Amino acid sequence: MGLIKTLRSVASFSIPTLSRHKRRFKRAANIADLRLIAKSRLPHGIFDYIDGAAEDEITMRRNSAAFQQYEFVPRVLRNVAGIDTTTSFLGRTLESPLLFSPTGFTRIAHSQGELSVARVAAHHGLPYCLSTLSTRSIEEVAAVSTGPKWFQVYVWRDRGLVKDMLTRAQASGYEAIMITVDTAVLGRRERDVRRGFTLPPKLGPGTIIDGITHPAWTWDFIRNEPITFSNITDPNASSAGTAVNLSYFISQQFDPGLSWDDLEWFRANWNGPIILKGVQSVADAVLAQKHGIDAIALSNHGGRQLDSAPVPLDLLAPVAAATGGTLPLICDGGIRRGSDIVKAIALGASLCTMGRSYLYGLGAAGEPGIERALSMLTDDMTRTMSLCGVRNISEITPELLSLVPAGRI
Ligand SMILES: Cc1cc2nc3c(=O)[nH]c(=O)nc-3n(C[C@H](O)[C@H](O)[C@H](O)COP(=O)(O)O)c2cc1C
Repeated sequence: MGLIKTLRSVASFSIPTLSRHKRRFKRAANIADLRLIAKSRLPHGIFDYIDGAAEDEITMRRNSAAFQQYEFVPRVLRNVAGIDTTTSFLGRTLESPLLFSPTGFTRIAHSQGELSVARVAAHHGLPYCLSTLSTRSIEEVAAVSTGPKWFQVYVWRDRGLVKDMLTRAQASGYEAIMITVDTAVLGRRERDVRRGFTLPPKLGPGTIIDGITHPAWTWDFIRNEPITFSNITDPNASSAGTAVNLSYFISQQFDPGLSWDDLEWFRANWNGPIILKGVQSVADAVLAQKHGIDAIALSNHGGRQLDSAPVPLDLLAPVAAATGGTLPLICDGGIRRGSDIVKAIALGASLCTMGRSYLYGLGAAGEPGIERALSMLTDDMTRTMSLCGVRNISEITPELLSLVPAGRI
């Protein structure tokens, strides 16, 4: 009797699931685990499109590694019974200092793509920035989200196309635009070069085998409508008036002539906050402030553009000092832990972003995967704040960090 009682007290049975991915997803403990599940669920070319970066991927690795330079200086006996992660950004109250970064071609990871990201963001009171290169349109995303929505702008040579998107975003209730300024030309992503990966992917013997060996992704892919760049119509393409699905058209459209003078044009055509995404130097941050830009994202595009670019985390303190702490800063790149968010805020960020972190979740398990990625980051952040003795975002100050002594990892 005693034995049965003891066994009962320790046994916990649940119905086993046959899907290996679902079993692994259930047990996933952190973003790195979600990444590994996405790696096994997605065809190789697609995983590498998401996971990869430019050239030797030095920048991408450094973006994440930079967080390890710091350790916390925790305070104790501070009554951390109620942790408040809310913050205010450009006049909006947000549940946490987190933004869902724009990612092009999101439906490649899962058929629900941008709609899932928008729903999760809205549900948690966080902003989602839709990419110019999204696979759901400005209007489709607005229809599923009452949360704060921003629109990311790639500046095309054809300003008529840009103006059209700005008008649509404004009409659909998007609150801010992020102009991406690190993409004068497209970075060279060598994993894609090796795999011959294009957007949209072309069918060939390699991709067919890749698809067959990843049936969960393939089944989801073939049951749903074809993926296209939903926001862009190419007046010169033979399919005039339809969504363009030609990546060569996109690469030809980036305007290498873009300059600071063009910002006037945006002021005239957008009624709301303007954020520059991809600022990578103190000098440009100061220039952005002089041009009346509302906020900047210190970003190297997750290492997908210039390799050996500066790391956003390293830029925070010098940029905050040079701009007098009055220009809101977004730290974009390498965030895989809630403790990374706390460190970035301590160094001067107002907001941090998730790029690959939510894409790994989406690739691992669809919308529940994004939910899980977000809760991993926010739970981590709340726990870190408790263990550091800070109760709210304004208590996260530079005194909370110190540099790890030289020679120690
Ligand atoms: C698959 C993928 C697609 C992306 N597409 C865009 C895009 O369309 N526009 C843009 O401004 N940035 C894009 N980015 C960059 C992200 O917005 C963000 O800067 C980057 O992912 C941050 O680094 P992290 O992935 O380490 O968080 C993309 C990133 C990834 C991984």
